[in-house]
Amino acid sequence: MNIREQLKLFAFEEEKQASVIASEYSPSAPVTLFHGDRLDLLAQIKKSGDKAELIVTSPPYNIGKEYEATKSLDEYIEDQKKTIAASVEILSDTGSICWQVGHYIEGSGKTKEAFPLDLVLYPVFKSFGLKLKNRIMWYFGHGLHENVRFSGRHETILWFTKDVNNYTFNLDPIRIPQKYPGKRHYRGNRVGEISGNPMGKNPTDVWDMPNVKSNHIEKTDHPCQFPVALVERLVLSLTNEGDLVVDPYLGAGTAAAAAVLHNRRAAGADIFYEYLEIAKERVIKASLGELKTRPLDKPVYEPNGNSKLTQIPEEWKK
Ligand SMILES: C[S@@+](CC[C@H](N)C(=O)[O-])C[C@H]1O[C@@H](n2cnc3c(N)ncnc32)[C@H](O)[C@@H]1O
Repeated sequence: MNIREQLKLFAFEEEKQASVIASEYSPSAPVTLFHGDRLDLLAQIKKSGDKAELIVTSPPYNIGKEYEATKSLDEYIEDQKKTIAASVEILSDTGSICWQVGHYIEGSGKTKEAFPLDLVLYPVFKSFGLKLKNRIMWYFGHGLHENVRFSGRHETILWFTKDVNNYTFNLDPIRIPQKYPGKRHYRGNRVGEISGNPMGKNPTDVWDMPNVKSNHIEKTDHPCQFPVALVERLVLSLTNEGDLVVDPYLGAGTAAAAAVLHNRRAAGADIFYEYLEIAKERVIKASLGELKTRPLDKPVYEPNGNSKLTQIPEEWKK
């Protein structure tokens, strides 16, 4: 039975459904939504001997959201260091860590000073021997309109692997449509043959995806979700079916829902029970195929019919 089938059984039994939110980690459970501190969950996973293929999270940014007590930047870094250290301990040899962050802001109005958290945290990851594979730029079109500096419209994802050479990376499941599918080789020994890949192209390290604002189809009562599509792309490329995906700061359970959608096991922690309740509802819906998400494969380019290069080649239609 795959993960979705296992979890589907929970949907119809109240007691089983309630057990998805737990204060103990069980490697045999398809999903563990841990009520408590992330360090306790990570310690329990370590004790169980289980390993995560992907640890993906959007940690508190220390910007005064309702779920975080504002700390000095140094205290914040120390706190993140503990999470990163405990994450490395449960990472599989071929595994990846993806940290999605924005900016820590000091001051207000014109006195605002921005500290890019990826730059601040990069040395911490390096101190644990991790290897940076990509610094992914996540671009979104909406946000606060500023008038004393440029309005912020991006955040980043640092993707690290444990091993520089031997790591899981599946490109085919995350390819995107090509701009010029009809392009052919014009020199060399393959002249005339289609030059692209019929499964699409590499999505690159710049991801254009709307953030989850109030009118987004995925919006819950959580103040700061990341989009399911963003995590799906990481889950599909950096793990295989049955692998464990861990989010130390789970929130509304986006990472767990994306894992379940693609038959990966999931575990995540949050200190607020009400967020875990939202997460529980979302993972159950994901198992039933009822979770509303903005599709990952939304075409980035529609062939317009004017140029031969933009048409799907006859070879591929076959
Ligand atoms: C930026 S949000 C994560 C949102 C999540 N990515 C989603 O899509 O819903 C950070 C979360 O970390 C939780 N959190 C804060 N401190 C924590 C801790 N020490 N252990 C576990 N979770 C914590 C907060 O309650 C909040 O829900």
